Amino acid sequence: MRVVVWRRKPIYIVRRTAAMLALMGGHDAALKDPDSTDSQQPAYADNPLRSRAPSLFVAIGVCTHLGCIPRARFEAGGPRMGEQWPGGFLCPCHGSRYDLAGRVFKGSPAPTNLEIPPYSMAGPDQLVVG
Ligand code: FES
Repeated sequence: MRVVVWRRKPIYIVRRTAAMLALMGGHDAALKDPDSTDSQQPAYADNPLRSRAPSLFVAIGVCTHLGCIPRARFEAGGPRMGEQWPGGFLCPCHGSRYDLAGRVFKGSPAPTNLEIPPYSMAGPDQLVVG
């Protein structure tokens, strides 16, 4: 994951591996807004992976609860996050959990999924945010 700043906000740029993507589809029932109907994303990210391309996830790294900075918890399972954890982000302030598409889990105080900023690809390895 890389973090850049855009409009004074951290932008998370995550290269999702095949192993990460394999864990993306099995937990929709545990999410508050699995189809992102109440969340903010550009039209091209209005899909289950919330991205232009499956391997690349771009999101504003600001918790939708009260604005803290969620931390990467990419490793699936484990005693710390629970065996059902598919990998994602954990907000240190009040414990909101997001998956690797920034979709918030039920039981989190955050009301909506992480916001997806506008972005485009200027080349195979060049991302433009904004
Ligand atoms: S600010 Fe993230 S859970 Fe409250």
